[in-house]
Amino acid sequence: MGKDVIIACDFSSAEQTFAFLDKFQGRKPFVKIGMELFYAEGPQIVREIKKRGHRIFLDLKLHDIPNTVKKSMAVLSSLDVDLCNLHAAGTIRMMEAALEGLTRPDGTRPLLIAVTQLTSTDEESMKKDLLINEPIDKVVMHYAHNAKLAGLDGVVCSPLEAGKVHEICGRDFLTVTPGVRFADGEIGDQKRVMTPEQAKAIGSDYIVVGRPITAAEDPVAAYERCISEFVD
Ligand code: C5P
Repeated sequence: MGKDVIIACDFSSAEQTFAFLDKFQGRKPFVKIGMELFYAEGPQIVREIKKRGHRIFLDLKLHDIPNTVKKSMAVLSSLDVDLCNLHAAGTIRMMEAALEGLTRPDGTRPLLIAVTQLTSTDEESMKKDLLINEPIDKVVMHYAHNAKLAGLDGVVCSPLEAGKVHEICGRDFLTVTPGVRFADGEIGDQKRVMTPEQAKAIGSDYIVVGRPITAAEDPVAAYERCISEFVD
């Protein structure tokens, strides 16, 4: 898969989601379904969006004992999602078990990426709450390397970390990066942001864009702008 823009469909109902996707008419953007929408509507929302012809990143960030994650991944795999994720903090063994569960009988599987440290976790809370005393950048790169060792396809990370992740884990290891804003747009609650053009220059493979598209007056035009800045 080449570079692409993934729209974060952070809606709480199928109705809102379809009203949004209907605006795109013939176009079929790659979409991200997160916990909010999945817990509100269940797996049927995945089947329906898939039936409409979209590729899907199912962002459920699994983290449990290896056996439970393996079995849950088998369920997600049968939903025919294209990309899903888990927490690298679950250990290399959990990530390996996830890959096993995700692999279908014919050998195919959705792409699997890891969350390293959430961007809401800063170095202070990591030290105080989690008793992890290394610098946060080192922890992020270590978790990315663990994901690579386990055989995963990439990580979710800040666009600011994408270049370093590629240096450590290789150019083919995917970096999927949220925290993207237009140069003339609102930043909202994101702290460290990059424009689609900057994310492209630093080597992100996929950008995840929510409000700059979902809250735009013309979401289709905002999406096209992301594509022209990031992909074309
Ligand atoms: O609206 P906005 O563009 O900020 O949406 C970004 C999306 O990426 C949201 O779905 C958010 O939950 C997700 N995300 C993030 N930062 C992370 C991981 C996920 O913003 N570190």
